[in-house]
Amino acid sequence: PDPEPPASVKLGFESLPTSMTDGCVVPPGYIAHVLAPWGTPINDNALPWDKNGNNSSNDLLNSMGMHHDGMHFFPLEGSSTEGLLAVNHEYIDEKALHPNGPTLVNGKRPAEEVRKEINAHGVAIIHIRRSNGRWDIVQNSRYNRRFTSATAMKLAGPIGGTDWVKTPFSPNGTQVRGTNNNCGNGTTPWGTYITAEENWAACFVNTGNRPAHQQRVGVSAGPVGRYQWETAAKDPSEVLGEFARFNVTETGASATEDWRNEVNGFGYLVEIDPYDPNSIATKRTSMGRFAHEGCAYSKPEAGKPLAFYSGDDSRFEYVYRFVSEANWDPKDAQRTDRLAVGAKYLDKGTLYVARFNEDGSGEWLALTGTSKGKDGGTLSDKFKTLEEILINTRGAADFVGATPMDRPEWTATHPSNGDIYLTLTNNTSRNASSGTNAANPRLNNVNGHVIRWHDEPGSNKFQWDIFVFGSDSGADADTNRSGLTDLNQLASPDGLGFDSRGILWIQTDNGIDGGRKNNVARATNDQMLAVIPGALADSSGTGPAINASNQSDLRRFFVGPNEAEITGFAMTPDHTSLFLNIQHPVNWPAYDTHDATVVSMNTVRPRSSTVVIQRADGKPIAV
Ligand code: FEO
Ligand code: CA
Ligand code: CA
Ligand code: CA
Repeated sequence: PDPEPPASVKLGFESLPTSMTDGCVVPPGYIAHVLAPWGTPINDNALPWDKNGNNSSNDLLNSMGMHHDGMHFFPLEGSSTEGLLAVNHEYIDEKALHPNGPTLVNGKRPAEEVRKEINAHGVAIIHIRRSNGRWDIVQNSRYNRRFTSATAMKLAGPIGGTDWVKTPFSPNGTQVRGTNNNCGNGTTPWGTYITAEENWAACFVNTGNRPAHQQRVGVSAGPVGRYQWETAAKDPSEVLGEFARFNVTETGASATEDWRNEVNGFGYLVEIDPYDPNSIATKRTSMGRFAHEGCAYSKPEAGKPLAFYSGDDSRFEYVYRFVSEANWDPKDAQRTDRLAVGAKYLDKGTLYVARFNEDGSGEWLALTGTSKGKDGGTLSDKFKTLEEILINTRGAADFVGATPMDRPEWTATHPSNGDIYLTLTNNTSRNASSGTNAANPRLNNVNGHVIRWHDEPGSNKFQWDIFVFGSDSGADADTNRSGLTDLNQLASPDGLGFDSRGILWIQTDNGIDGGRKNNVARATNDQMLAVIPGALADSSGTGPAINASNQSDLRRFFVGPNEAEITGFAMTPDHTSLFLNIQHPVNWPAYDTHDATVVSMNTVRPRSSTVVIQRADGKPIAV
């Protein structure tokens, strides 16, 4: 657990101006270097990254994947110069991955290309060390490993072992191959990593009758899945339906070729023990199945249950809370059988969905059979078992009357007061017919906002307010409700993290995800800002906590290269190294330097990458 933050922390840097260059920008006195870009080998089984795109699927299996996203630094023996970095690889840029982009031969994807794409997804665990001021991967460390969209994983919790997930690969339904589209992340009080499966649904195709739960999560109706992986089925090299499994259409095939249930093994929070290289990643199905964005945990209190919060990132989707059945025992933080601790807290408990009331109160609605529907009846009238509720989490949340939100992304927990913060990135579909609600009060919300609440895991009530409204500085007062200026205008907040000093870091995904549909995207590349928030009660309750009289406390710390999203937040325990990820750049980084601030003149094959920020004098960051 993090120490109590000192009360006297103050931001010690000047807010950066906006920037639209093809290099990273940090405040004066800071340095930034590129660590572990896509294709960097983590062991000797991979050839070095080839700038012409010729690396093999086996190279990718032993290298950093693509499109770095959520991330966490796990110190080795408390060190701030050596540790394990867990990095999500959310999705791929097919054009950059292959020499001349993806190909189709007679309507089929070549098996080797598909394997390369599958291996570019997932999670990397890398052992990193700082020497002479520079962080680097410890090549061939026993800790270095890759999880891909083909790695065997355990299915734990209520869905594991049920008929929903029995496949030719796992006839007893206890395993599934791969984790997909790993976006935000979380951690646990016992030292494991949580990776969130977000936009996995469209990788699967069902050209027949899609059951309601598949329609609700967005399984592709065809004719093909997002990457057409299923078209490589029946390639002579295919091992046990490794490609066929992405087509979940009912075909009447024999049990040994029936992959209909494969899709039910995706859409979860997945727990990884980074410290045990032989451990098996475990999908915690009790925490619901949807487009998970991240997972923050409540401030642990001995003898009380733990709560975990996860947004479902799609327009008008919901925010969820899982509360453990077991009460927190601080001794569990020291155990080394970490996935057994995970089973204790994450496999048994209750999943809730949030209703935000107009008066600043809120309620967690349990997703269990006895819960009442908003139009009468109980959940058990519609869903026969808890497994069925969890498989169709969104459908169950619709039934009980959760509040439809403006795309819930990351959650973060204040280290001392325990308030939970959630980014609502944007929602251009919120219009007169959908209407607004107090928690999502702006029509055509192109800028997004950050909401926060305070609750106790033992209670189903909470209090909430809006922390900051995204806006360009020139907007009218109804849009720019926080009075943002040129020095802190922001839109499409997405990545979010608190450091243990109580500094909140807000990252944006505005360039591509925001669709350049707002004036902030026209004024600056994506960015990371810092702020030291007060407690929820500090807000008047009538307006945003950050407002025209105090908005200067929100400062821009970092601006990224052209078109790239800023995501993933990690720090060393001594706060001297800060890690973030540059996702989907278009040219960056420059090929011939490790300096992330150099403006790239490349014209092909950009590389998503981690960037490490330090002060030139080696002192703690931001203060
Ligand atoms: Fe992958 Fe919701 O961002
Ligand atoms: Ca992303
Ligand atoms: Ca995101
Ligand atoms: Ca986003």
